[in-house]
Amino acid sequence: MKALILSGGKGTRLRPLTYTGAKQLVPVANKPILWYGIERIVAAGITDIGIIISPETGAEVQAKTGDGDRFGARITYILQEQPAGLAHAVQIAQPFLEDAPFIMYLGDNLIQNNLDPFLDTFKAQNLDAMILLRPVANPSAFGVAKVDEKGRVLYLVEKPQVPPSNLALVGIYFFDRSIHHAIACIHPSKRGELEITDAIQCLIDQQKSVEACQLEGWWLDTGKKDDLLSANQIILDSYLVGSVQGQLDDQTQIIGRVEIGEGSKVVNSTIRGPAIIGRDCHIENCFIGPYSSIGDCSILIDADLEHSVILQGAQVVGIHQRIVDSLIGQRAQLTAAHRRPKALRFMIGDDCHVELT
Ligand code: DAU
Repeated sequence: MKALILSGGKGTRLRPLTYTGAKQLVPVANKPILWYGIERIVAAGITDIGIIISPETGAEVQAKTGDGDRFGARITYILQEQPAGLAHAVQIAQPFLEDAPFIMYLGDNLIQNNLDPFLDTFKAQNLDAMILLRPVANPSAFGVAKVDEKGRVLYLVEKPQVPPSNLALVGIYFFDRSIHHAIACIHPSKRGELEITDAIQCLIDQQKSVEACQLEGWWLDTGKKDDLLSANQIILDSYLVGSVQGQLDDQTQIIGRVEIGEGSKVVNSTIRGPAIIGRDCHIENCFIGPYSSIGDCSILIDADLEHSVILQGAQVVGIHQRIVDSLIGQRAQLTAAHRRPKALRFMIGDDCHVELT
């Protein structure tokens, strides 16, 4: 069994953050989203992993993630010249996948569950394909499945205007080699992509065994700001174990589960967990509230924030109004000249400078 993680594509929905970086590397609780997927796959016993990368962000994904050693895996990077669709990614990965069955994992998806039970079902039933489904409020934003009363997949449709059900396809799929023949039979969709939903539909039309499992735990497609903030909240809530390695002065108060990385200095501040502060940060006269993640080497002085993600190297200085529900890009600088009483809401890209006057 192998795994194929898709970490190419354009990432338009997280712009401006993803003008300069891969959306799969945007951190959740200070760890790239992509790494959660790798860890889940390795935990299921699969260590031969291919990662699809794009020309724009591939080098960054590769440099950060490495050859797989840190995960106990072997990673092969596969360059996809154009984001020509999920099925196209499988097509170009065939030399890596060979005839092996595989898990296809979309690099911006996060799920609560372990993969083992699904993998066991897929293997035990000797299926051609298995998909995971989850009821959602906005099915038009996803691939949608219509299933019969026994849970068998009748048909699939990608981002339908009129959805046939509320069951969205989660970005985790299990395939055996028959998917390659199915992909060879499909054509680009109206949006010009080779759709994996069309390839699975082709398997269904050929009476192949295609089953669906309902995902019970949470699932987050982190492509948008609010999804990313929810993912950050859930991961901090579920997994953060407090540990303080940086330096705190006597005026600093830590409440609840808080992680502070090596080399960070916290002066005259209150940190209320769950919250994580990376390495080599400087935090002074701040309130850092629950569900905040502060990336490495950030500087926060006279700042008040909660439920926000601050990326590596950002600076927030002199913002006395509470910053909430915000995502602040790498090296962004946020400074203020005057006090104002209202809450603020931001989505600020890498390298931006914002001054509130
Ligand atoms: O998240 C679940 C949804 O993912 C499913 O319900 C849909 O059926 C499926 O098509 C997909 O929809 P998205 O619109 O979320 O796909 P997106 O374009 O965001 O791509 C998903 C991941 O795959 C992302 O990490 C980028 C990567 N990708 C995408 C394309 C189109 C590639 O590596 N190559 C590509 O050509």
